Amino acid sequence: MSFEAAFNTSPNIVISTPGRVNLIGEHTDYNEGFVLPTVIPQTTKIALSARGGSRVRIASRNMAESGVLHFMLGDEVRHNSWIDYIQGVTQVLASAGRRVTGFDVYIDSTVPAGAGLSSSAALIVGVIKALRLAFQLELKDTAIALLAQRVENEFVGARVGIMDQMAVALATPGQALFLDTRSLDYKLIAIPKTAGLIVINSSIKHSNIGGGYSERRSSCEESARIMGVRALRDIGIDATQKLTMLPPHLMKRARHVITENARVQAAVTALQAGDLPRLGSLFKESHASMRDDFEVSTPEIDILVEIACADPDVYGARLTGGGFGGSIVALASANGARGAADRIAKRFAERTGLSPSVLVPVV
Ligand code: GLA
Repeated sequence: MSFEAAFNTSPNIVISTPGRVNLIGEHTDYNEGFVLPTVIPQTTKIALSARGGSRVRIASRNMAESGVLHFMLGDEVRHNSWIDYIQGVTQVLASAGRRVTGFDVYIDSTVPAGAGLSSSAALIVGVIKALRLAFQLELKDTAIALLAQRVENEFVGARVGIMDQMAVALATPGQALFLDTRSLDYKLIAIPKTAGLIVINSSIKHSNIGGGYSERRSSCEESARIMGVRALRDIGIDATQKLTMLPPHLMKRARHVITENARVQAAVTALQAGDLPRLGSLFKESHASMRDDFEVSTPEIDILVEIACADPDVYGARLTGGGFGGSIVALASANGARGAADRIAKRFAERTGLSPSVLVPVV
């Protein structure tokens, strides 16, 4: 299918939004801490035309079997399906006083869903950016990221932080976005040319809706409350003695967040110095913390990270994104990344019987 085939006309607007991979800083964003994501080459293409009236028509190459779906503005109802992302956009825009009329939208994405690479943020941010153009909405990219987060929190029902939306709205290839999720201040940091990033999707689907993600978030909020701070961000690495105020299970969760915030700042220094071995060690420490303290890894992801870390061209690797499945990110030398990625995927498939896919580097 195509926009033309679905709606018998050509689109007025076509834009692309990338997926993201988080280099380091996991589960820190909803604790008002630091993150360091960058974009991946896979994108979500949004083709859109404004129409009068209040009917919104939606089609997608990825969901071709659904045909053309539609809903009326002001009549958005959650269906627990992918069209909630579009319904959520129109509902949140209306509640923010942003006027749009009906429109046709066609989605064509190469960002895999459920891989921990922000397919939903790419879709939501992309649709809002397309609507900004179609209806001349005065919205800065940061405002778009905040609206996109509201779509997830208020309509879709995923209690996510702000990292993904900011990453896909603002980051550019070859640079990492060092973001303070409390103030939303950010710096773009060049990724050294000597570095080769690897992203491998384990093929185990992950989701941020409900379950483990939401439970981790509640644990962090409770830990902050017990320690008398607004958010875990407010406990520095030199104040970890405060963790003794927490019951053991919360202590582990909070320790991950506090040490992870320190690792993000150390990673920025390493990135700026082009110190790849140091950055690789931080990836490894981050993974161990997510596996043992935050407990968001899975046995298969641990195997994938272990195989990656054993590769001679790899400095370090870790689970990336919300966890409970999804992808890993590994740091290799620029020249070694391609060969290492193929070797890691092959060994993982042999050992687990799963069908991983190498997303970065792109062939
Ligand atoms: C998901 C969420 C983000 C963030 C990560 C974990 O990607 O959307 O807000 O919390 O998990 O770092």
